[in-house]
Amino acid sequence: MAWHMILLLLLAVSVVTADEAFIGVNIGTDLSDMPHPTQVVALLKAQQIRHVRLYNADQAMLVALANSGIQVIVSVPNEELLAIGQSNSTAANWVYHNVVAHYPATNITAICVGSEVLTALPNAAKVLVNALKFIHSALVASNLDREIKVSTPIASSIILDSFPPSQAFFNRSWNPVLVPLLSFLQSTDSYLMLNIYPYYDYMQSNGVIPLDYALFKPLPPNKEAVDSNTLVHYSNVFDAMVDAAYSAMAFLNYTNIPITVTESGWPSKGDPSEPDATLDNANSYNSNLIRHVLNKTGTPKHPGIAVSTYIYELYNEDMKPGPVSEKNWGLFDADGAPIYILHLTGSGAVLANDTTNQTYCTAKEGADPKMLQAALDWACGPGKVDCSPLLQGKPCYEPDNIIAHSTYAFDTYYHQMGKSSDSCNFNGVATITTTDPSHGSCVFPGSLGKNGTFANITAPSMNSTLSDSSAYTLRLHDSTLSIVMAIGFLLWCAVLL
Ligand SMILES: *[C@@H]1O[C@H](CO)[C@@H](O)[C@H](O)[C@H]1NC(C)=O
Ligand SMILES: *[C@@H]1O[C@H](CO)[C@@H](O)[C@H](O)[C@H]1NC(C)=O
Ligand SMILES: *[C@@H]1O[C@H](CO)[C@@H](O)[C@H](O)[C@H]1NC(C)=O
Ligand SMILES: *[C@@H]1O[C@H](CO)[C@@H](O)[C@H](O)[C@H]1NC(C)=O
Ligand SMILES: *[C@@H]1O[C@H](CO)[C@@H](O)[C@H](O)[C@H]1NC(C)=O
Ligand SMILES: *[C@@H]1O[C@H](CO)[C@@H](O)[C@H](O)[C@H]1NC(C)=O
Ligand SMILES: *[C@@H]1O[C@H](CO)[C@@H](O)[C@H](O)[C@H]1NC(C)=O
Ligand SMILES: *[C@@H]1O[C@H](CO)[C@@H](O)[C@H](O)[C@H]1NC(C)=O
Ligand SMILES: *[C@@H]1O[C@H](CO)[C@@H](O)[C@H](O)[C@H]1NC(C)=O
Ligand SMILES: *[C@@H]1O[C@H](CO)[C@@H](O)[C@H](O)[C@H]1NC(C)=O
Repeated sequence: MAWHMILLLLLAVSVVTADEAFIGVNIGTDLSDMPHPTQVVALLKAQQIRHVRLYNADQAMLVALANSGIQVIVSVPNEELLAIGQSNSTAANWVYHNVVAHYPATNITAICVGSEVLTALPNAAKVLVNALKFIHSALVASNLDREIKVSTPIASSIILDSFPPSQAFFNRSWNPVLVPLLSFLQSTDSYLMLNIYPYYDYMQSNGVIPLDYALFKPLPPNKEAVDSNTLVHYSNVFDAMVDAAYSAMAFLNYTNIPITVTESGWPSKGDPSEPDATLDNANSYNSNLIRHVLNKTGTPKHPGIAVSTYIYELYNEDMKPGPVSEKNWGLFDADGAPIYILHLTGSGAVLANDTTNQTYCTAKEGADPKMLQAALDWACGPGKVDCSPLLQGKPCYEPDNIIAHSTYAFDTYYHQMGKSSDSCNFNGVATITTTDPSHGSCVFPGSLGKNGTFANITAPSMNSTLSDSSAYTLRLHDSTLSIVMAIGFLLWCAVLL
């Protein structure tokens, strides 16, 4: 009987295989100089980021993401939740304007209905499941319910007794919401969206949780956390939290709902009371997280099951209220320059190429103009470079000289050829450089979206209805989780002794 159950479970869960595991990135927009959507998309493309989550359904952003090959989660902001949860037609309108109008050019794959509603906006909890159902029925009406999933991100703090993971359960006072929510997710083939912040778990544990355990760093075997019920070893907080969420769902008899982590990350800077918000720790956490997710290891209790994860977050958000760390979760600054260079060699394409070491191919200073002209003619002809931006009236026409024009053609060819060093030679008149030759609206291949046109112009307003600021205030003051975790950890240590 027991084997039967396990087999069924394996069959059910194996629908989501680990080769689908991906890394995405959250895009918060609380920046004083928020880049224009076209610049955001240029950065995403340059960094090979193919999955993003928006905290709203900003029209300009959705337009910029059209035909980009990037898969997009849009969100119903918490402020709009009450209206949508109380009116089928409001929900249908929302779906029409923010989803149907953009699909399929913009590849919307899911809708987050609110953000950490139970903890951030508890008085909207009673309409949450209705809101999901209304949004879903609007998708059904447009025949998009198979392509676009509906769910709602929850904070991991509603999982109690998360250590050991096998004994974890959801805060029971939320069962009246969670049971219909899980039932909805199961019947619509959707997934649980979970936000996991080992940084806060570590910070609030008063030293009980080792920093290395939060950062996915190797632990000596005697320091690894062991689940006393299952004897499963945990080497990081992230896996323990995901398995705790599986257990909490199983406790309510839901055993086949996959999990996607909609937020996780580490701040790179903090105030004096946040000494572990450092560049090194942020780099370690995010680099290790990315490798861990893409390595398809799954979690100890569900090995090989994909736990795709969206990193929090793309940009540092300088307008966020709260401590210094709140403004420093980003991978990039507003110019698209990386805050730190992730250690990701050998882990695939996403975020693997840093922006500071970007290389370009330019015409050598003082090269013979006749040889440059011959090389330019070759590049724009047999070399198959699209030289139309060099024509009069086009962005790269000025300055109209042979050095500038051949530099554009050489650099384009070099990037077309995958930046192999022998593709930047042109009979010795070309050379590789790290200085971006882009100027004005002439953006060179390899340039990371520092759109000169916008640098000097006030970018059009994103006009976004920002919603993600509420999520954090609560998490910061919520120490319940950490106490429970701390006790759990102590118990484990006791078991180990
Ligand atoms: C730069 O900005 C211009 C002006 O809107 C836009 O048309 C162009 O596509 C942008 N280029 C890039 C690479 O973002
Ligand atoms: C959207 O992404 C999914 C998943 O990769 C893919 O199967 C689908 O073809 C994409 N749709 C469009 C319109 O590009
Ligand atoms: C909501 O509206 C859709 C049509 O958009 C309809 O199919 C569905 O039955 C309605 N649901 C409820 C609960 O009224
Ligand atoms: C469970 O949730 C309720 C309602 O939000 C809250 O009052 C209570 O403190 C939570 N219990 C624990 C142990 O966190
Ligand atoms: C889960 O299933 C068991 C066995 O069928 C049952 O005893 C229990 O009440 C169920 N729990 C919930 C929360 O439905
Ligand atoms: C990747 O997976 C292999 C086998 O599952 C494991 O041995 C290795 O430690 C993992 N590497 C990382 C970085 O998680
Ligand atoms: C990253 O850069 C290296 C060296 O320039 C190149 O070989 C590799 O293909 C690049 N990876 C991606 C995903 O662009
Ligand atoms: C650029 O690449 C070199 C050589 O691979 C490396 O030593 C250097 O640290 C890189 N620069 C940055 C900013 O990472
Ligand atoms: C901005 O404008 C100033 C003055 O017009 C010019 O000198 C500067 O090069 C421009 N910067 C960019 C990035 O285009
Ligand atoms: C943009 O914001 C302004 C002021 O907040 C508002 O009046 C306007 O309706 C918004 N436009 C769109 C397209 O959302």
